[in-house]
Amino acid sequence: MTILGLHGWREMEHDPAACLVVDGKLIAMAEEERFVRRKHAFDCLPTNAAAYCLSQANILLDDVDLVTYGLNYKKASHLCGVVAKLDCEKFLDMLLPRKYFKYNKTPKIQFIDHHMAHAASTYYTSGFKDAAVLVIDGQGENVSTSLGYGRNGQISFFKQFPVYDSIGYLYEAVCQYIGFSVHDAGKIMGLAAYGDRDRYNFNSITLDHCGYSMGIKKYLNIDNQTTSDWQRTMIYGWKKYFSSELKWQYIPSLYSYKQNHAILGRDEVIPSRFQKDVAASLQKTVERLIIHLCAVLRKKTRSKNLVISGGVALNCSVNGKIADSSIFENIHIFPAANDAGVAVGSALYAYHQKSGAVGEKIDNIYLGPAFTDEQIKRLLCRSKIKYELVKDIEKETAKLLSEGCVVGWFQGRMEAGPRALGNRSILADPRKKENHEKVNRIKGRENWRPLSPSILYGYEGSYFENAKPSPFMLKSVKVRSDKLEKIPAVVHVDGTARPQSVSQKANLRYYNLLSEFNKITKVPLLLNTSMNGPGEPIVCSPMDAVRLFYSTGLDCLVMNNYIIKKEYEKK
Ligand SMILES: [Fe+2]
Repeated sequence: MTILGLHGWREMEHDPAACLVVDGKLIAMAEEERFVRRKHAFDCLPTNAAAYCLSQANILLDDVDLVTYGLNYKKASHLCGVVAKLDCEKFLDMLLPRKYFKYNKTPKIQFIDHHMAHAASTYYTSGFKDAAVLVIDGQGENVSTSLGYGRNGQISFFKQFPVYDSIGYLYEAVCQYIGFSVHDAGKIMGLAAYGDRDRYNFNSITLDHCGYSMGIKKYLNIDNQTTSDWQRTMIYGWKKYFSSELKWQYIPSLYSYKQNHAILGRDEVIPSRFQKDVAASLQKTVERLIIHLCAVLRKKTRSKNLVISGGVALNCSVNGKIADSSIFENIHIFPAANDAGVAVGSALYAYHQKSGAVGEKIDNIYLGPAFTDEQIKRLLCRSKIKYELVKDIEKETAKLLSEGCVVGWFQGRMEAGPRALGNRSILADPRKKENHEKVNRIKGRENWRPLSPSILYGYEGSYFENAKPSPFMLKSVKVRSDKLEKIPAVVHVDGTARPQSVSQKANLRYYNLLSEFNKITKVPLLLNTSMNGPGEPIVCSPMDAVRLFYSTGLDCLVMNNYIIKKEYEKK
């Protein structure tokens, strides 16, 4: 059975994506942003991503048995006050226009509830027969947090929280409130480590009634409104709350941050004490709230396994706290936990509903396009770029890294999800503190933001406290005190790091590179961050990588076995 999973819409949507599931196996996935080269690809259809997935399997739309969609379109339209006459053929023609996708028979289309699709993406890729299921995002159709069971291949929810209790929107509201964009949740997660976690008390709103109702509604008067009104009121409501509780710090803080951006540029802006403390207090509240939800889940399901998805599942500090709490023995988080992942979840849900099978554990997420040596060589020759073709590329690259070069590492199939996992990565030596600033400057990121390490599988315990292997870079852990000085470029200000464990099975070439670096330096780690410029999505093609290389301070670019170096005089 061949299923094409989709997510994305022309208005008010983000992170469109497509995947292909053949007989239950996830064989391709990509986000549309990688092709259209706009981060999050707002208001785009997943056209390029779907075309890629079909080409990867060398099939046409006529060969697809079922198209799935990670939102219940009818329910969502109804909530927006639109009476949707659901014409599947028209809907499909909008998503996959016939002028690009020639097909003779219209495949069936199945709409899956958004949170069920999130849940399916993580449960069916966990390998667990039974697991507690936690989904937290801005909102699905009319819910924002779902608690459930996954058992013997079936998922059910026992508690769902409405949109006005949304933890995702709380994050968005706070982002805006302290002067960031609504999509900067990752930034304030990083900023939280600098602040006073006890300065502001959000707990009276959220924790008191958690498990039954989070009790946010009483602060907002939002009954009988459409979904988009809910969102606006939600953010307005939080702002109002902050303004009354936190006095008048809002306007000067927002103004100075934006003004400094304009005058100094992004990497020189220093956040205020107020911004740091709000971020830290929010992080503490969200951590406590989610730990509480986990305790409810454990009690109710009695499972020792937890699977998590939804945009809030990308909060590594929260995930680290869940692991530290030992409420669950095993935790799995689908790496594309954001909305792109519902393309996968919808397809897996449809398959498993029919087959009744338990899903298989995934050990990697390299599901995007790969490029041959021939394609890379052709680009380099056509662009008159001097290159070297190196046989033992891992050894040579490890040497360059140990000598201080910052390297663009472009290999094999592109990763899905927001974290680069060693196929479209910028790499540097973690022992050199200055690499933190150097890499942040290359990426146009603020200097206070942390960078993460990749570590050879099996070495986690030598560098991190209570560390279990973490293949998708989604959990923060404490760095061992005797190692803080050894890898300063990848330790955050609070002494934590967000490591990716690299096994031979998951990524042989990247494993070999780490091994070669370890041979030279006796350090089995590399600084690893996604290969993209300021505000851009991760690179997809060799052309994207070459453009990035020549427009930033990268020293070398390694694509398959080709190395390009910049010839310049070091000052
Ligand atoms: Fe979502």
